[in-house]
Amino acid sequence: MDSYCVFGYPIEHSKSPWIQMRFAELTGQTLQYEKNWVALDAFSASVNAFRAAGGKGCNVTLPFKTEAAALATECSPRVALAEACNTLKFDGDRIYGENTDGLGLVTDLVGNAGFALKACRILLIGAGGAAAGVLGPLLSEKPKAIWVANRTVDKAVQLTARHARLAAAEGVDCQAFGLTHEAILSQSFDLVINASSSSLQQAALPVPASVLQRNGLACDLMYGPAAQAFMQWARANGTEARDGLGMLVEQAAASFQLWRGVQPPTQGVLADLRALLSHS
Ligand code: ATR
Repeated sequence: MDSYCVFGYPIEHSKSPWIQMRFAELTGQTLQYEKNWVALDAFSASVNAFRAAGGKGCNVTLPFKTEAAALATECSPRVALAEACNTLKFDGDRIYGENTDGLGLVTDLVGNAGFALKACRILLIGAGGAAAGVLGPLLSEKPKAIWVANRTVDKAVQLTARHARLAAAEGVDCQAFGLTHEAILSQSFDLVINASSSSLQQAALPVPASVLQRNGLACDLMYGPAAQAFMQWARANGTEARDGLGMLVEQAAASFQLWRGVQPPTQGVLADLRALLSHS
């Protein structure tokens, strides 16, 4: 049977096996998919052992996404821009690397939330791995602007510089700022995306509510308890809020499509996963 897995550290929390096995069931595909805990210094050895045992592909989660990009023998332009890879596909000696995180976010926002990214103004908070994974695919949707605001300005500058060519090609105003820059404090945005990890440290929300718009959307890339403070803050200020669970399911669907050549249905899987998590 074709075998897939997700590599991570930690990995116990991963919902990927549940999601991928639901996709397999719904599309009539026969495969197995498991969680693989990997020691911090054993990522490439573990992937190569999995390949040698006949594995067809894998997902990669924290903290190995950068190492996965380095391990790939070929990769998509998205991996090159994000400098991170969450999906590997094995074919003989070839290891193809893709990053489906940003594709998943775009599909969730446009397809599931019905949000029009084209020509809108976006504030992306954070400039770490999560922000890097989504910036390229967001730019490719041709919004009017994506302003990246980060506590450490230099990281936002580096991230936007890496994407400058794509931003110019798509005609997007893409700029970097500190979180408290006057330009951020004096404007509101159609879409505010929280790609920072401030909520994991119970830190204050990194921007004032003036960035939100009443008819806009606020989206945290996390899900579960970690996303609650941001969503409550947005809703208390009259803005619709969304967590990262839809992105999780949609990035998994893009991985499944890459491996199996079949697009799985996602909306029922997302609803079932949300119900499962609310009861756990
Ligand atoms: P991830 O892979 O989840 O993006 P990361 O690469 O460590 O993790 O990035 C974390 C992001 O959250 C960074 O943008 C970080 O800001 P810095 O670049 O200044 O470190 C941001 N972040 C973390 N804690 C924060 C806080 N308390 N306030 C504002 N931003 C915070």
